[in-house]
Amino acid sequence: MLTLLNEPSFIRNIGDRGVRTIADAQLYITAGPLASYERFGFGLYMVELKPSCAPIGICGLVKRDALPDIDIGFAFLPRFWSMGYAFESASAVRDQAREEVGLRRLVAIVDPVNDGSIRVLEKLGFTFERMVRLGEEEKDLKLFGCDLSRAS
Ligand SMILES: CC(C)(COP(=O)(O)OP(=O)(O)OC[C@H]1O[C@@H](n2cnc3c(N)ncnc32)[C@H](O)[C@@H]1OP(=O)(O)O)[C@@H](O)C(=O)NCCC(=O)NCCS
Repeated sequence: MLTLLNEPSFIRNIGDRGVRTIADAQLYITAGPLASYERFGFGLYMVELKPSCAPIGICGLVKRDALPDIDIGFAFLPRFWSMGYAFESASAVRDQAREEVGLRRLVAIVDPVNDGSIRVLEKLGFTFERMVRLGEEEKDLKLFGCDLSRAS
């Protein structure tokens, strides 16, 4: 998590979470994903390779105060990009949202220049809906939506 959150691609596309030490990362995991599991029954998950159990990224569902709908998020270490891992893990999370959480709709927010993320979302069945600005963010983001009764 410490490595991932400090990747230039993560900071550029998602944001700087200010996590600089192992202790910061532990706090981030406790206050973020673990608190979300506790409160909602879902959250961001670690994605690992099956043979080695090596951690390569995160993917999961997020409930933000700033959005009425639950959104999907993902980020991977750059050396594991373009191997289909974002699509594979996000497909599983989309199916979890529908089958276990019982959602009928899922959204995603993405920087308009993040072509890779937009491609992953479109492959998953998401379509662009509108521009949004969340809380204190400096720029507008694209909001994508997915009707889970249709996406396969
Ligand atoms: C965006 C990101 C998650 C993509 O992960 P990935 O594992 O490389 O994606 P996949 O290999 O599953 O690719 C899925 C599709 O997207 C396409 N794609 C991936 N990166 C792309 C890029 N930079 N530009 C255009 N298409 C791209 C792939 O070609 C593939 O499409 P195809 O099957 O038609 O060839 C990854 O680049 C990342 O972690 N970026 C930093 C964090 C981030 O931006 N997260 C998203 C925040 S909304």
